[in-house]
Amino acid sequence: MIANTVKKTFSLFKPNPLAEQIDFASKDSIPIRHLAIGFEGEKVDLSFYMNNQFATIFFATLSVFLTYGEDLVIETARHHRDLLKDPILKQRVTSLIGQEAIHSKLHNEFNDAIVELGYPVTLYRFLGSNFFKYIFLQFPQPLKLSLMAGIEHFTAVLAEYMMKHEQNFYFSEDAKTRALWMWHMLEESEHKDVAYDVYEVLNGNYALRISGFALAYFTILGLIPFSASLVPVFRKPQEMLTAKFWKDAKRGVKLIFSPKDGVFGSTQGQIFDYLRKDFHPNDHDTSKYLEYYKQKLLSEGGALHPFFVKEFTPKVQAA
Ligand SMILES: [Fe+2]
Ligand SMILES: [Fe+2]
Repeated sequence: MIANTVKKTFSLFKPNPLAEQIDFASKDSIPIRHLAIGFEGEKVDLSFYMNNQFATIFFATLSVFLTYGEDLVIETARHHRDLLKDPILKQRVTSLIGQEAIHSKLHNEFNDAIVELGYPVTLYRFLGSNFFKYIFLQFPQPLKLSLMAGIEHFTAVLAEYMMKHEQNFYFSEDAKTRALWMWHMLEESEHKDVAYDVYEVLNGNYALRISGFALAYFTILGLIPFSASLVPVFRKPQEMLTAKFWKDAKRGVKLIFSPKDGVFGSTQGQIFDYLRKDFHPNDHDTSKYLEYYKQKLLSEGGALHPFFVKEFTPKVQAA
């Protein structure tokens, strides 16, 4: 009986790769953009997000932890790129790797800068790197692939929310923090289907896909908010004795978790849409937003224009 149960459990996770061919050539190619921002600690606005320190600290915490998520995406994408046959999907994976590598680099520069503001970067880097090293990076490759697709789903939902709420980035004069997040959101939306397509082409098992989603959910909406809530304790515990702090914290929680219009609160339906068996990231069409932002941010006077260095698109290599 035990053997039967084990067998049944394993069969639940049997690969079920996509049978039909996807025409990857019909998709837009993805450029890798280099930016040079040069953050200066004392000039980073700790109330950047809608004049709210608590919500800004949430995003700073996300900035610290997501560099490890990006490293996992890079490692996993590299491993699976070698298993792919379609040369255009391989090219898209190279773009994903390139974009994530530069995200990780620039977020690390931002994270270095916020040390000056008393943010516990060293402690959180220690916790984040060990958590990923001893837990997530130890997973077998199929689970890592599913986790990568799950993480990318969250960043896609976050990116879509931010693209629909452009004004939220303009409460502050801090043009560098604005450039970091707007560039990152633009690219997360641009490559949102790559990890998912790789997962469907190479594995496609539904139960495994949902396992990766659950792990991403637990990390992004459990561990990160919990870690963010502890930052004031390490940074300026005396501030926690003031009414102003708790007023700011209450508003910050709403900005992130309110079901009405909070970043993650109002997008739970879209987050859980991932559970649909026939889900695909492009079911949520963001192409118009992408066009608008590429045009607006990168051209003269745009938020990314002063920091833009160069861009290139990886070549399609013969299979
Ligand atoms: Fe990223
Ligand atoms: Fe991404």
